[in-house]
Amino acid sequence: MAKATKTNKTGASKLHSTKNPISENIRGSMVELLQTHLATSIDITYQTKQAHWNVKGMNFIAVHELFDDLHEVVEDYVDKIAERLTALGGQAHGTVQASAGNTILEPYPLDLVKSEDHLRRLADSYSAWSKAAQEGIEEASEAGDALTEDLLTEVARGLDKSIYFLESHFQS
Ligand SMILES: [Fe+2]
Repeated sequence: MAKATKTNKTGASKLHSTKNPISENIRGSMVELLQTHLATSIDITYQTKQAHWNVKGMNFIAVHELFDDLHEVVEDYVDKIAERLTALGGQAHGTVQASAGNTILEPYPLDLVKSEDHLRRLADSYSAWSKAAQEGIEEASEAGDALTEDLLTEVARGLDKSIYFLESHFQS
């Protein structure tokens, strides 16, 4: 069984030993990259549920159900990102408390009610994560990790589709 990871002087985590063919150096940087995306995926999962639970308005049932559909999409990414990270020998920091310190997203306001406010605010979060995911695609490509690049491409494509679903409610 692999040893538990420890944090070294630079704050980066040591990797578990693995037969994964990617070099340790690249695996280390990809684990660090994916750790940020894991935290962000967990954050956005509950931002979307926050909207699902609290939204009110004449189009209640449509947006209530839309937010649940979007939640299912991002929840799938949480697992895929965590398992790519562990496949690379990393230790997933997948708790809500760890995620709170590592997410790239601004805190979601707890007092939003109107459907348009939730739609616009979620579009901001999905857009911020999409931008980071697209930067991650480039980073993974430059590192030569085609599988992490492919995963982040899937994530970014899904996020952009969700942005379209959200924005179509208020675009003129
Ligand atoms: Fe529900």
